[in-house]
Amino acid sequence: MARILSGIKPTGNLTLGNYIGALKHFKDFQETGEVFIFIADLHALTLPIDPTFLRNNSRDLAAFYLASGLDPKKATIFTQSSVPEHAELNAILQNYLYMGELSRMTQFKEKSQHMKDSAIGLGLFAYPVLMAADIVLYDADIVPVGEDQVQHVEITRDLVNRMNKRYGEGTLVLPNYKINKVGARIMSLSNPTVKMSKSDPKGDIFLLDSMDVVRKKIMSAVTDMDATVRYDKENKPGISNLLTIYAAIKEISIEEAEAKFAGYRYGDFKREVADAVIAELEPFQKRYFEIIESKEYLPVLQEGAKRAKEIASKTLKRVQNAVGLLDIDDD
Ligand code: TYM
Repeated sequence: MARILSGIKPTGNLTLGNYIGALKHFKDFQETGEVFIFIADLHALTLPIDPTFLRNNSRDLAAFYLASGLDPKKATIFTQSSVPEHAELNAILQNYLYMGELSRMTQFKEKSQHMKDSAIGLGLFAYPVLMAADIVLYDADIVPVGEDQVQHVEITRDLVNRMNKRYGEGTLVLPNYKINKVGARIMSLSNPTVKMSKSDPKGDIFLLDSMDVVRKKIMSAVTDMDATVRYDKENKPGISNLLTIYAAIKEISIEEAEAKFAGYRYGDFKREVADAVIAELEPFQKRYFEIIESKEYLPVLQEGAKRAKEIASKTLKRVQNAVGLLDIDDD
């Protein structure tokens, strides 16, 4: 049975991009695979964050996981920090990824470009090491992510190959990333040439926006003067993004979405995209509020941490042995 692992950072304000690119699809794996989904709270510390905000975001994310249809009986849901093996394996793996390759990571370059060196934490630079630890700790075969995380899975693959070459095949399992055909990169509604990201209030749809706000944001999404609804990322990025959102939500192809909206006026097209997003988010939010109210996420995270630890501790031991750390339990 394939092992599937993914995580999201609880840095607040999850967007429709996070939902379409990642969250919505996690449940698809739970019928056929062994699914591990976690809250990447240690990663959330790589940029300054208020402690209360972080705690609340982690709780929210747990509720989002459940609201998305992940079933805690089938999927293991946990916080990264509740499984100390992540940090322990990180301490080993950091010796096998190098300054040069880490400094070429797009995410690092983007996040640090406006920061002074004196303000960039080591954790931001070493981010992919911890992410590699997250992945290999569970011997993950498949890592479902949005396009912006592909580079991090690729560097994990480099690391795995490097470790296996040095310490023997089977030391670590080689993961593959999985991105969705439609919606692996949802763009900002206010500037459809840049990615929708958690820190872009104008161009974002946040998962907890009211339905009025969702509709307003979609109706005022930036488009073009051409007045035909067709997919053309280069010349019509705004319309292409809205077609992508619609197709991803309805789980149809871009061609099917294009065919449906052929001859539509932009206003009517946007109205139907907004209807589709609202039809998806409204029940999701309802379920989220129920979960927050009932606190059912707490036992899920407690049980999840236990199950995750069982797997993680075995992998950690295997790696500790492989690299030559003395096992004092082994007589
Ligand atoms: P994070 O929290 O930035 O994003 C969570 C997931 O959402 C995807 N995503 C998008 N997909 C489509 N369009 C967008 N505009 C968009 N924005 C974000 C991301 O690709 C991601 O899949 N480093 C990870 C968290 C992490 C992780 C891991 C993931 C830590 N350890 C191990 C997988 C495996 C992150 O910061 O994602």
